[in-house]
Amino acid sequence: MRVRLAGHLALLVFVVGLVSAVLTAAVRQDAAAAPGADMPDGPGKDVTLRVCGVCHQPDRTASLRLTRDGWDELIGEMVKRGAKLTDAERAQVLDYLSTNFLGEAPHPINLNTAPAIDLEAVIGLGRTEAGTFIAWREKNGPCKTINDLKNIAGVSFAKLDAARDRAGCF
Ligand code: HEC
Repeated sequence: MRVRLAGHLALLVFVVGLVSAVLTAAVRQDAAAAPGADMPDGPGKDVTLRVCGVCHQPDRTASLRLTRDGWDELIGEMVKRGAKLTDAERAQVLDYLSTNFLGEAPHPINLNTAPAIDLEAVIGLGRTEAGTFIAWREKNGPCKTINDLKNIAGVSFAKLDAARDRAGCF
């Protein structure tokens, strides 16, 4: 009898431990997925989260590093896709992005349209690799994020992954 009770107790302890581990993991995942979690605080963050979070996670910007002109161009691309910003909001978003995500790339490379020469020069693909990538793109259609490009036979994902600061899918 006593042995059986001990067995039940051990099982109970195990189940409680398991449930609490699962709950902790779930809460942690929620925090990581909160919009803007990867974006530094600062003037213009609220506006950026609001206007750039309508169609996709605003964190899409978090890996790119562009010059101020590059950011201006990217915001222009988003306006073409339907982003609605007043002039004042656009100025605040541009300030926020070019303060917090400043880099050297004057143009973000769009992996959905980039010609072979940019894939070679900017991403570092070899000539054959760039050709393979373009053939894949024509067959499979546009990427939404670089993560969509993980398993292309003959194209190094490591190179694409390392180019997140200057390339994306848009
Ligand atoms: C009206 C919808 C819309 C709004 C608002 C919008 N975007 Fe986009 N964005 C898109 C679409 C569509 C793509 C292409 C990829 C896709 O289909 O998800 C994209 C792609 C991007 C990418 C490239 C993503 C990647 O992972 O390669 C970045 C960076 C980006 N957007 C930043 C912004 C910023 C900054 C703003 C705010 C100024 C913004 N977006 C607002 C529709 C929008």
